[in-house]
Amino acid sequence: MTDPNRERYRIRETAFYLFTQQSLPACKPVLTPGWVITIFLFMGLIFIPVGLVTLRASHSVVEIVDRYDIECVPESSRIDKISYIQDDSIPKNCSRFMKVRKYMKAPINIYYQLDNYYQNHRRYVKSRSDKQLLHGRKYHDTSSCQPVELNNGQPIVPCGLIAWSLFNDSFTFIRERAELKVNRKNIAWKSDRDHKFGKNVHPFSFQNGTLIGGGKLYPKIPLSDQEDLIVWMRTSALPSFRKLYGRIEEDLDVDDVIVVNLMNNYNTYSFGGKKKLVLSTSSWLGGKNNFLGHACIIVGCSSLVLAIVFTLLHLKYRRPYGDTSYLPWNRKSLSG
Ligand SMILES: *[C@@H]1O[C@H](CO)[C@@H](O)[C@H](O)[C@H]1NC(C)=O
Repeated sequence: MTDPNRERYRIRETAFYLFTQQSLPACKPVLTPGWVITIFLFMGLIFIPVGLVTLRASHSVVEIVDRYDIECVPESSRIDKISYIQDDSIPKNCSRFMKVRKYMKAPINIYYQLDNYYQNHRRYVKSRSDKQLLHGRKYHDTSSCQPVELNNGQPIVPCGLIAWSLFNDSFTFIRERAELKVNRKNIAWKSDRDHKFGKNVHPFSFQNGTLIGGGKLYPKIPLSDQEDLIVWMRTSALPSFRKLYGRIEEDLDVDDVIVVNLMNNYNTYSFGGKKKLVLSTSSWLGGKNNFLGHACIIVGCSSLVLAIVFTLLHLKYRRPYGDTSYLPWNRKSLSG
């Protein structure tokens, strides 16, 4: 004999799960005006202070920018800058002055900035061999490096367009006739130095072709210690970018004049690129950038405005919730 009660339980266990009956306990929030207003108020109170703090950090950064690519070409050569830059017999040295308008605390980062330089072009980005950078000439499959792969049948290390077009302007800084020490170490990511560029890989047959693309490398120094190359090889996603050149480890005072002696070697003239030199301090948030601060403040202010508008609407048109007489069809039958 089966117990009818037990049979009933069995059916309930198998067929009538709470899940299939859609009666699981659940959170069903009802967005009443009170809740909506509180949430917007809360967002405003969070975002506005965060925005102000970020903006303050950005404003505390002192930055000097100097565009030098035009001024550094002598006036007589400015109609044809390309043949000027390509003529190796003309010395390319140039002096610029940078005036410090606000006290700058060390370390002061030195960047070069290139504009209109598409390091993100598909053919350019792919023209490198990460395995070769790590293992050197032992690694043979460098077809990805086209068109800078071989020189007279010999492999080029480091191969590819990115390495070939290495930036080759150089800068020295003088203040009151004394040279400012520039620290050029630790400008690349540590992970790149340790894991991506070989400690036993030395340049080979680099910039030996007929067309020179840019900077040369020291043949005796392993790639993992040639930090300018490592910085350059981390390609930029946008056509305007800054790359770290070094750091000045002395404070600069108001009204100091820094004389920059530079070698204007790199050819950006053939594609209308700009070259700028940037000196910048940094804050806990990095360099000067007001975007994040402005975005937070805009979001915070719009939330506050919405909270106020909703409060006013709520006070003016208050009504009980869940009253079906407000439904349009009910209203029609009421009036009609
Ligand atoms: C620097 O790079 C340019 C190409 O942009 C090249 O023509 C020039 O020979 C290079 N100069 C030096 C000194 O490496």
